[in-house]
Amino acid sequence: MASGLSASWPRRKEREPPPVANPSAPCYRARLVQPGVTKEFSTLPQTILEDLTVGETPDIAEALARRGSHARAHQLLRSALQTVPSRLDIRVRRGIVANPTVRTNVLLDLMGALKSFQKSAFVSDGLATWMKLLPFMEDVRFMQTAARHENLLPIPNWHWNLQTALWAVQQVAKVPGDFMELGVFRGHTTLFLADYLEFQDIPRTWWLYDTFEGIPEDQLDPNWRDNNARAYEGTFSFEEVQARFAAYPNIKVIKGRVPEVLQAGELPEQIAFLHMDLNNSTAEIAALDLVFDRIPSGGVILFDDYCWEVSRAQHDAEKAWFAQRGLHILPLPTGQGVFVKP
Ligand SMILES: C[S@@+](CC[C@H](N)C(=O)[O-])C[C@H]1O[C@@H](n2cnc3c(N)ncnc32)[C@H](O)[C@@H]1O
Repeated sequence: MASGLSASWPRRKEREPPPVANPSAPCYRARLVQPGVTKEFSTLPQTILEDLTVGETPDIAEALARRGSHARAHQLLRSALQTVPSRLDIRVRRGIVANPTVRTNVLLDLMGALKSFQKSAFVSDGLATWMKLLPFMEDVRFMQTAARHENLLPIPNWHWNLQTALWAVQQVAKVPGDFMELGVFRGHTTLFLADYLEFQDIPRTWWLYDTFEGIPEDQLDPNWRDNNARAYEGTFSFEEVQARFAAYPNIKVIKGRVPEVLQAGELPEQIAFLHMDLNNSTAEIAALDLVFDRIPSGGVILFDDYCWEVSRAQHDAEKAWFAQRGLHILPLPTGQGVFVKP
């Protein structure tokens, strides 16, 4: 779809602000203009915009985000997407500003650098692709399900990672056994997959394990103390996650520390899919020792953090564990690692 009336940016037309509760806070109405469509979408306080074209929204939203107005940038991009849902560059920027982090501006810089690949550039935290197919974008159900649950994970544009996880659970469709996730946090990945698969109708059980209190102190890998406090302290709870999965009678949320909770015997006989995501090498290696033999041929282990720089300790320990058995984990640029049991 063509992207609106031609006009250079910045193009700021001052106009009388509509009445607002606080008369000292100027308030202007932005209008999104598309050939044949003009959409009044929202009031953007202190933003002097009018007759905004779709083509102008990325730059303006970016300017808003760079000055810290992520919510308004998000609102603007979301409105633009209602008019031009096929605009990938707007979609990617919306994902970036929806989950602001310390690296938001870097991700926006990358989008700028990839401007000439606007039809294929996809940027998430730690991964940028261009000139590549984006198969998940062609799966409407995938995109809708990802959007429904994106608020549970504070990382923008997690689609490549979710796509790997979806591949894994689809790949094991004929492999006997239950599903298991070690490290659940708010339940984002499993909820996405369960929703996509309509897991309530699948005759397997999904076993989810977490301390719901972050990584135990005695299991912290080097340099993880700050991460642990920042990411987990007071940010989630067992009760909240249990409620989130209430619609799935075949998903069990278990509060306990790995490996002890597994040693106590609360685990499935056979495991077709294991999502390993404890963010610490001690617990992940101990878990491998306990569950590996329960995975039948064709079963998949997805290591969520295998190739993240910050997770070097997990990578090295797991690579060595598999090498001792003549086996190999496939490192992925998403930061994940995949193992399919021969
Ligand atoms: C990265 S988060 C999991 C994210 C989740 N898999 C997802 O995709 O949304 C890591 C989780 O592992 C949990 N955890 C870390 N060490 C653990 C252990 N030894 N036993 C149980 N849970 C643990 C933490 O509490 C945290 O919630």
